Amino acid sequence: MQAVMLVGGQGTRLRPLTVTTPKPMLPLMNGPFLEYMLNHLKRSGVEEVILSTSYLASIFESHFGDGSGMGIRLIYVTEEHPLDTCGAVKNVERYIKGTFLVFNGDILTDLNLEHLIEFHRAKKAVATLTLTRVEDPTAYGLVPLDRAGRVTEFLEKPSWDQVITDLINAGTYVLEPEVLELVPEGVPHSFERQLFPRLLGEGKPVYGFPSPSYWLDIGTPEKYLQAHLDILDRRLSYDFKGEEIKPAVWVGEGTVIEESAMVFGPTVIGRDCHIAADANVMGHTVLADGCRIMHGAHIEGSVLHEGCVIGEDSAVRSSLLSRNVTLGKRCHVADAAVLGEGLIVEDDNDLKRGIKVWPDTVIGSGKVKF
Ligand code: GDD
Ligand code: MG
Repeated sequence: MQAVMLVGGQGTRLRPLTVTTPKPMLPLMNGPFLEYMLNHLKRSGVEEVILSTSYLASIFESHFGDGSGMGIRLIYVTEEHPLDTCGAVKNVERYIKGTFLVFNGDILTDLNLEHLIEFHRAKKAVATLTLTRVEDPTAYGLVPLDRAGRVTEFLEKPSWDQVITDLINAGTYVLEPEVLELVPEGVPHSFERQLFPRLLGEGKPVYGFPSPSYWLDIGTPEKYLQAHLDILDRRLSYDFKGEEIKPAVWVGEGTVIEESAMVFGPTVIGRDCHIAADANVMGHTVLADGCRIMHGAHIEGSVLHEGCVIGEDSAVRSSLLSRNVTLGKRCHVADAAVLGEGLIVEDDNDLKRGIKVWPDTVIGSGKVKF
């Protein structure tokens, strides 16, 4: 089986994290998010994945190469101009050999692909859309079904008065290659706003496959943080790296935790980190490789990418820090702050309430207070 993975979006809702890294390459725990999904595809019998890239395209290939290191064949096709979700698949049509899968590249799921493909074949569908249930469908594609499981309508980002079901498009499709005959070449085209409504208008067999599996679109800071918390809470399977030094605390090689530091689980600490005396790393925290937490600092419910330095007596709560963020002394970062790569925050600053700071900025001492 082949899969096309759509990884060309700009990840605007995840800025500033995505200013320097495309959304599917953001770390999830200690490896790129996409690595988790590629492993899941491989385990499900997918042999070849065509990565449809556009924004920051070269970062994918320089990390994964031809996929042989992971035991899966990877092909990269880069768009000069973004072609939107369906145009991106039309653009890789020459590689498609038969019934194939399409994935939005920002979906974290352990969906059973074998069952999905079996369902698609049994229904003799031209397109089968995986569906999931959410409380607020307005941020997604709404997909009502009839009693036989056929899709009756596709409403992308519906308003509340259009919400007649809680089933939404989970961003994983099984398609027959013939549907691509309806798609124009070389111009932007959308599955959600164009191809699916057209197939339905023409009465083609389009089916929905409601799945109870774990499902999350990591496309906003809240959801990206949630993905980590869910893995730490074992809501989906994950192969933790490092040594479990006490229940639910995994630590990588070369990391030093001083004796009077406190580390509570569930927490993952990467390689070559240093947790100084009297520092606290509380639960639901992920520290990537090379982070340094200074004396008396406190980290809780947060994700810190590689090489972050948290100064003495500073605190980080419920926040996201990109690579190489440095905080001085007595800083407070909290309530869904999102800090861009290489940011330097000097002593005595408070960054709170969803504040977003762009990469490579310097915030002088005592400049930001709440
Ligand atoms: N190659 C390429 N080119 N990829 C693209 C392009 C493009 O022009 N535009 C978007 N993508 C990729 C993104 O990288 C992402 O992986 C995927 O297509 C979906 O784009 P999002 O921007 O994340 O869409 P969304 O989350 O608002 O909505 C989509 O996903 C929902 C489920 O999470 C829709 O498919 C909804 O119907 C669906 O419910
Ligand atoms: Mg998305």
